[in-house]
Amino acid sequence: MSVVPVITIDGPSGSGKGAVASRLADELGFALLDSGALYRVLGIAALRAGVDVGDEQGVANLAAAMDVKFASDEPGKVILNGEDVSLAIRTDQGSDLASRVAAMAAAREALLARQQRFRQLPGLVADGRDMGTVVFPDAELKIYLTASLEERAQRRYKQLIDKGISAILPDLLRDLKVRDERDSQRAISPLRPAEDAVVLDTTTMSLDAVVQEVLTMAHDRFGESTEGQQGEPQP
Ligand code: C5P
Repeated sequence: MSVVPVITIDGPSGSGKGAVASRLADELGFALLDSGALYRVLGIAALRAGVDVGDEQGVANLAAAMDVKFASDEPGKVILNGEDVSLAIRTDQGSDLASRVAAMAAAREALLARQQRFRQLPGLVADGRDMGTVVFPDAELKIYLTASLEERAQRRYKQLIDKGISAILPDLLRDLKVRDERDSQRAISPLRPAEDAVVLDTTTMSLDAVVQEVLTMAHDRFGESTEGQQGEPQP
């Protein structure tokens, strides 16, 4: 086992990755990498800088140069070059730009080392599309979450409404489908489970049930180093 344990949580949008990863990180006292947020920030950075999302080298240069900070005091808060972009990156436009820049090899390459630097003691939970296949291929525990398209669209809808962002369900369903296709058919780092990943279909599972199942696997793999850190189960 490598020195710093990593749990990778991959899967399509709305599979529950984000919520599961953040609960796991809390329960285990591990750091959290929301890699999707990095692609989202890159899309917004391109928009702000007037760089066309089709301009691979321009986007890769931005990826290398942009100053991104994840606020430690406020989960989900992201600062790009001093600007709070937490809401901008979660809009439909933010989602679309993210999946466009994410299809470019040079942009992915430019973000690779940035993502790997999140691997710090006592451990990391990494959420994304290629965490188990490309970014942390030696991770000790790899999970691939999935759910039906309809269920994922419902979850995204609720997430946006809860954040005060307006949303239309049929539009979300269509956009998710387009992004799923783009993410899984792209030539570079396509969305797919790692060969050694545990695949969990969460369509009919509660968030708590998924978290508990993954925690049990984490305790089996990591043993005592994680057992003492588990918090109280949440309602
Ligand atoms: O996970 P989230 O929906 O925030 O990711 C936004 C987009 O970023 C995805 O649609 C995908 O195209 C891209 N992405 C990626 N690789 C990752 C994480 C996200 O290509 N590891």
